[in-house]
Amino acid sequence: MTQKNAFQTQYLADYRPYPFRLNETRLRFRLSDHATEVESELDLTREGDGPLVLDGGAGLKLLRLAIDGRELEPGDFTREGEVLTIAETALPGTSFTFEAHVRIDPGANTTFEGLYLSGGMFCTQCEAEGFRHITFYPDRPDVMGPFRVSIESTKSILLSNGNPVSTAPGRAEWHDPWPKPAYLFALVAGDLVAISDSFTTMSGREVALNVWVRPGDQDRAGFAMESLIKSMKWDEEVYGREYDLDVFNIVAVDDFNMGAMENKGLNIFNSKLVLASPETATDDDYNRIEGVIAHEYFHNWTGNRITCRDWFQLCLKEGLTVFRDQQFTSDMRSAPVKRIEDVQTLRARQFREDQGPLAHPVRPDHYQEINNFYTATVYEKGAEVIGMLKRLVGDDGYKAALDLYFDRHDGDAATIEDWLSVFEDATGRDLAQFKRWYTDAGTPRLRMDEAWDDGKLTLSFTQVTPPTPGQDDKPPRVIPIAVGLIGPNGDEVRPTEVLEMTEATQSFAFEGLGARPTVSVLRGFSAPVVLDRDLDDAGRAFLLAHDTDPFVRWESGRGLALTALQAMAQGAEPDPAYIAAIGELAGDDAVDPAFRALCLQLPPEDEVAARLSDAGIVPDPDAIHAAHLRLARAVAETHEGLLDRLYRQMTVPGAYIPDAEGAARRALRNVALARLSLLDGGARAAAQFADAGNMTERFAALAALIRAGKAEGALVEFHEEFASNRLVMDKWYMVQPAAADPSQAAAITRKLSERDDFDWKNPNRFRALLGGLSANHAGFHAADGAGYDVTADWLIRMDGANPQIAARMSSAFETWWRYDAGRREKSLAALQRIADTPRLSRNTSEMVSRMMA
Ligand code: ARG
Ligand code: ZN
Repeated sequence: MTQKNAFQTQYLADYRPYPFRLNETRLRFRLSDHATEVESELDLTREGDGPLVLDGGAGLKLLRLAIDGRELEPGDFTREGEVLTIAETALPGTSFTFEAHVRIDPGANTTFEGLYLSGGMFCTQCEAEGFRHITFYPDRPDVMGPFRVSIESTKSILLSNGNPVSTAPGRAEWHDPWPKPAYLFALVAGDLVAISDSFTTMSGREVALNVWVRPGDQDRAGFAMESLIKSMKWDEEVYGREYDLDVFNIVAVDDFNMGAMENKGLNIFNSKLVLASPETATDDDYNRIEGVIAHEYFHNWTGNRITCRDWFQLCLKEGLTVFRDQQFTSDMRSAPVKRIEDVQTLRARQFREDQGPLAHPVRPDHYQEINNFYTATVYEKGAEVIGMLKRLVGDDGYKAALDLYFDRHDGDAATIEDWLSVFEDATGRDLAQFKRWYTDAGTPRLRMDEAWDDGKLTLSFTQVTPPTPGQDDKPPRVIPIAVGLIGPNGDEVRPTEVLEMTEATQSFAFEGLGARPTVSVLRGFSAPVVLDRDLDDAGRAFLLAHDTDPFVRWESGRGLALTALQAMAQGAEPDPAYIAAIGELAGDDAVDPAFRALCLQLPPEDEVAARLSDAGIVPDPDAIHAAHLRLARAVAETHEGLLDRLYRQMTVPGAYIPDAEGAARRALRNVALARLSLLDGGARAAAQFADAGNMTERFAALAALIRAGKAEGALVEFHEEFASNRLVMDKWYMVQPAAADPSQAAAITRKLSERDDFDWKNPNRFRALLGGLSANHAGFHAADGAGYDVTADWLIRMDGANPQIAARMSSAFETWWRYDAGRREKSLAALQRIADTPRLSRNTSEMVSRMMA
C-alpha cells in the first residue's frame, strides 16, 4: 500500500543563489491580538537576473506594496500560493527599497510558528520558515542583513534581536548589527519580569543578561541564569568564542513547538527548559535545562555568526551545536555518564529512525516539509559524525579546523562541503570517503571476528549498511574503531588505539601478547554502528567487571541484559550470569553511583523489539514486556538485601542541590526503589511519596506506585497539590500512560484526554499524554489496536491546529513494519485514516506517506 501526496518536493541539487543582496531590513510592528500591522522596508541590491520573488503565507492580509516609495499596482506583481513575485519591469536600477504593509492575526495562530500569542504574550518562532507568516520576505537562510525593529504595544516589555536603541512606554526600538537570516528574527511583547545578571567577556565587555518570565515564576529562573553564565564562560575557554552584543535575553513561553530557539540575542525557550525548583523539577529536568541553555547559547557562533546556506545543511549548525553542548555537559558533570546517556538516546531515537521508513541522511537531499527534518538523525547522528571526525584528526587537528572554520566562514551561510574543507585544509586529510557519513543514511552493521595464534591477535572486521529508502547501495565508510586489550587477570595490556577501517572487510593484528586478551572494542562508542561479535556471557561479565573504558563496561552489562531478554521473550528463563554480574557491580561502592544506576537499568522494550526484528524474528510486545518485568523481578529477588542497603544508603543529606553528585545518588536510590517495589507491593514507594523533599524523589515514587497498581490516592494528591503548575501537570499526564499496565494504557490515555484540564493545543500537554503512551511499548502496540486508534484520533485533531506537532508525533508509528500481521494491519489502517483526512497538512502528509511507502 503506497501512499502518495500532492505536495512539492525540494531538492538540494536545485539550489540557486538569491539574485539580490539585502543591505538592511527595517520592521515596524503595531501589535494587537487580532490585527497586528507589520510594515517592512528592505534595502536590496541586484546581483543576478530575474524578478523579485518573496515568500508570504496565506495569512498575510496585503495592504500595500511599494518600491522606492512608489505604490505598486496590480500589474506589477502576482501572488500565487505562498509566493509573491514583483515583475522586473517594476524594479528600478540596481539598488532600491522594497516596502510591504500587511496585517496578521496572531490571536488566531494555533500553529505556534510566525507571530502568535501564548498566555497573553506575543512571541515568535521563525525557524525554519515562520517569518513568511509575518511579512513578505526572502525567507531563506542565505539572505542575511542587519535589522532595525520598532514595536508598538500596550505590553510592558518589548523585545527584539540585537541591542536596544530606545524604549519609551508603549514603544521600543532594537538594532541588530549582525547580518542574519529571517529565521533568527524574534519579537516578544508581554507583561514580563526578569531575573538579571551580567557577564564580562574575555575582552572586558559587559553584557546585561536577563531571563524573562511571567510574574510569579522568577524564583524558578535562577538555575537557567546560572547555566547561561557557565555556558558563556565555557565557550570562551574551550572554543575562544566571545559574545557579541550588549544584551542577552532569554524568554520562557508556555506554548512552544520545540525545546528552544537561538534567535540572535533573544533566545526563546519552552518554559519547561527554563523554570525549575526542587519541588517542581527533577534532576533530569535540571540536567536538560543546563544542556539546552548551553545549546542555544552556543548557536550564537555555530548557527548565527556562521549559518546554513540552505535547510539541507541543517546538520551544519545542529550537529555541531549538539556536539558542543555534549562536550559542555561532560565538562560540567560526569563525562562517562554523559556519553552513556547520549548513546542511549541515539539508539532509542536515531537507530530506530535509521532502521525504518523514515531513515534519511544526516544531510538529506530532498524534503517536502523541512520541519520534518529536525530529527535525531540530523541532530544526534550529526553530533556523532563530528565526534568521529575529532577522533580521526585528534584534539589538535580538531582545534585547528574549528579555528579555521570560525576564521574563514564568520558571516557566511555555509555548507557541509565548507565544513569538511576546513578539516581537510587544517589537517591535510582527504575526507572524500568520510563524507558518506553525511550523504548516506542507515546504521552500519559491524562484525568483528578474532583469531589467536601464539601471541598474535588478529581482529577482522566486516561492515554492511542495510538499504534505506532511495539508497540501495551503500559503499563502505570510514569507521574509527577504538580498541583496547584486557589481559586474563583484568589488567589492561594495550591502551586505547583507534583502528581506521575504510574497506568492506579489513583486519588488524596485535603482536607480542603473552596470553590471549579480551578485546574491548568500540570504546567510548567511537562510531554509531551496531557491533556484532561472538562474546559469551563470561566474556561480557569479565568486561563489565574489569574494562577501563566506562562505555564498554556499561555496554557489556547491556549486552548481557539484551541477550537475556531476547531469549526470555522466546521462552527462556532469566540468565543467572547477568543477575550475578549486575549484583557484583551494583554492590561495588568504589563505582560512581550514577554509573551503577545506568548499569541497573534494563534496555528499553523497544530496543529489544528492534534487536529481535534485526535477527529476523517478529517481536511480540507482550512477551517482551513480560520478559522485562520478569528479569527486573529476578534481579530484585536475588539482590533484595543489596538493593535495600543501597536504598537506605543513597539518601542525600541536607537541602536539595541539583548537582551531579546528588543526582547520582538519587538515581541509584530510585532504581533500587523501582526494583524493590516489585517485591514490597509499593510500600517503600508510598513512604517515599509521602516524605519526599523534592520532585526527583516524588516523581520516582509516583511511577513506582503506578507500576505496583497502588497509585490511586497518590495521583489524586499529586493533582491537587500541583493543579496550578502546568509543567508539573504535564508530568502527571505523561507518567500515567507511560507506566500503565500495557493492557490499560490506551484506555487510560483516552480517559485522560477527555479531562477538562487536558489543554490539548498546548504542545507540552499533548506531547506528555500521547508521548507517554508511545513510550509504553506494549501499550502503544496493544494487539487490539487501541493504542494506534487513540493516537490516530488525536493526531488528526492536532493536525488541524498545529501541523508541526502532529507530524512530529506521528513517528510513533515508524516501527509498524516490525510486528505481526494483525498489528501491521491495524497500524496501517490508523495511518490510512490519517492520510485520508481532508486538508491534511503538508507536514503530516509527508510523514504518513513516507511511513506507508
Ligand atoms: N534551532 C532550534 C534548536 O536549537 C530548533 C528550532 C526548530 N524549530 C522548528 N520549528 N523546526 O535546536
Ligand atoms: Zn539547535
